[in-house]
Amino acid sequence: MQTLEWIGGTDGYLRLIDQTRLPGEETYLDCRTVDDAHDAISRLVVRGAPAIGIAAAYGVCLAAADALRQNASSQQAASHQQDASHQQAASVRSAVARAADYLATSRPTAVNLFWALDRMRAVLNRADDDDLPETLLREARQIHDEDRRMCAAMGLYGAPLLDGCRNVLTHCNAGGLAASERGTALAVIYAAHASGNPVHVYADETRPLLQGARLTAWELAKAGVDVTVLCDSMAAGLMQRGQVDAVIVGADRIAANGDAANKIGTYPLAIVARHHGVPFYVAAPSSTFDLSLPNGTQIPIEQRRREEVSRWGDVQSVPDEAQVYNPAFDVTPAELITAIITERGVIRPVDTANIRKIVAEFAGQTDSAP
Ligand code: MRU
Repeated sequence: MQTLEWIGGTDGYLRLIDQTRLPGEETYLDCRTVDDAHDAISRLVVRGAPAIGIAAAYGVCLAAADALRQNASSQQAASHQQDASHQQAASVRSAVARAADYLATSRPTAVNLFWALDRMRAVLNRADDDDLPETLLREARQIHDEDRRMCAAMGLYGAPLLDGCRNVLTHCNAGGLAASERGTALAVIYAAHASGNPVHVYADETRPLLQGARLTAWELAKAGVDVTVLCDSMAAGLMQRGQVDAVIVGADRIAANGDAANKIGTYPLAIVARHHGVPFYVAAPSSTFDLSLPNGTQIPIEQRRREEVSRWGDVQSVPDEAQVYNPAFDVTPAELITAIITERGVIRPVDTANIRKIVAEFAGQTDSAP
């Protein structure tokens, strides 16, 4: 299973597993234009913070490929070779810059999107005209490779935290479908499983779009990890009965003090976990930290379509007269988080000073604010 894959060279395209169709169908969607990539991110064909960033980086490469194709077809018309190549370079540059701005409008909460686009813009500013498409593709591939390594490292740092934990609860999907290879929170579970811990996972179904039931259960089962799906409202009762040893989730954006935005329904889980003395872990790479925000109050929260709540498949489940509230994320305050697992180590206790120690050097490399 490949969540996302660039096929071909600089004139290639982005292939995505279509997550809107899982688990019923394992089909792949090819994005050949920037519009395709924008649409795939907005519709959650590809979703999960790191995967969105990687898809957007490849989306920028699609703009360069498209501009080159258009230039090639209009080239015969140009009379002077040198003028033509200057014009071509300028048109590729402006297409790429426009694409980065456009892709930044695809989803607002996961900071990985803006972080990846900033890296692509930085390449645009420093690369020579001659090899701009190659340099952009190299950077997108590097973002993808770095994410693979970060996921593996989170698994290794986090697995010892699950020693002695038999039942682990997770929310939404923070696995290989949301990132590269094995994901963030699920990387920790996969690593624990691989080290001989017979961990059993409770996967919250994750209303309204069911990323837990459809995606987390699918990929865990495929990997041979024991998994049970429950409705979101059942998690508190499970913890009250002592049947959860740890909760582990991913994140879409973590502020400088450790407040963490993640899929709607994460915050109530953290409250219940604290009430019952269950450790609550967040696993996220450095690219998910937004140190420009002192706390979580300023994290932009995506509001999604009414139909995601008002319909159950083909069946209407909310009367037309009723309004619908549908934020895609909530923010868990740092004080409810036992530890944050990153690819650079475990942040514990979760506070501004400890976060700076672990991720500031990384964040300083790029301007990650949208
Ligand atoms: O709306 P989604 O499916 O993109 O939301 C995804 C999540 O909330 C994940 O938990 C988060 O991005 C972490 S992914 C490693």
